[in-house]
Amino acid sequence: MTVDPRAASGFADVAEAYQRGRPGYPREAIDRIVGRFELTASSTVLDLAAGTGQLSRLLQRRVGHVIAVEPVAAMRARIAADLLQITVLDGAAEAIPLADAAVDAVVVGEAFHWFDVAAASAQIARVLTAQGGVALLWNTPTWTVQDTPWLHAFRQIVADHRRAAGDYPAGNGSWKDPFERAGHFERLVHSQAVHKQTLEPDDLLAQIGSWSWIANLQSAARAAVLDDVAALLAGHGEIVIPYRTDLYLAKRRPALEPD
Ligand SMILES: C[S@@+](CC[C@H](N)C(=O)[O-])C[C@H]1O[C@@H](n2cnc3c(N)ncnc32)[C@H](O)[C@@H]1O
Repeated sequence: MTVDPRAASGFADVAEAYQRGRPGYPREAIDRIVGRFELTASSTVLDLAAGTGQLSRLLQRRVGHVIAVEPVAAMRARIAADLLQITVLDGAAEAIPLADAAVDAVVVGEAFHWFDVAAASAQIARVLTAQGGVALLWNTPTWTVQDTPWLHAFRQIVADHRRAAGDYPAGNGSWKDPFERAGHFERLVHSQAVHKQTLEPDDLLAQIGSWSWIANLQSAARAAVLDDVAALLAGHGEIVIPYRTDLYLAKRRPALEPD
């Protein structure tokens, strides 16, 4: 199983913080996934790299069966504890523990940048039915120093740690070329949706603590970051963070018939 060690350790101890602090996904994005892949009460969907099951939660109300695959045991335990009707499996994108053509759609939230793109896209295509497709989602905060005056100081607290953690295996959009070159899917269709997260300062601290590059710091350094942010937010009431969700949808390309 190929899981970047920074992901394996970074998500090992943050399941509670993750579930508490991360923003989830807008209904519009879920509607587009359901519409594009014609998902119904008899469809099965794989939430790959499911984390604490944020996408699984949203999809279980819309489709017949959700399977969550996640390599980090503590994250998996959080899904299993909350979402009894979802099948939860240990596994990685590069070796999905499902039979061929087992699911009608695969969704990947905030995780495709961690994958080995060629191996993962071949595996995703393998587990999809002939009419199936994949949905890749990422949230990006669109806050600015104009609407959030403490943002500049906040960025100064965390920026060096982000840089020091290094690039993601397929981050900064570098997943796209190898995904398209692998040839398992039709053209990617990109769309965006916006949403907002309203949270208390403690929830934002939980979110920051759930970022793998903060979670992976030595405990004293991690505590120092969180203390600095807590001091910055002291006395703040509710915080509203605006997000853009980027959604990429692609249908599986039909397998070539032998001549
Ligand atoms: C930022 S979290 C996203 C979790 C969830 N999909 C969500 O939308 O909230 C990234 C997740 O990717 C998982 N992950 C990292 N590398 C993986 C791989 N190669 N295969 C499957 N999951 C992986 C991590 O364990 C972590 O739970």
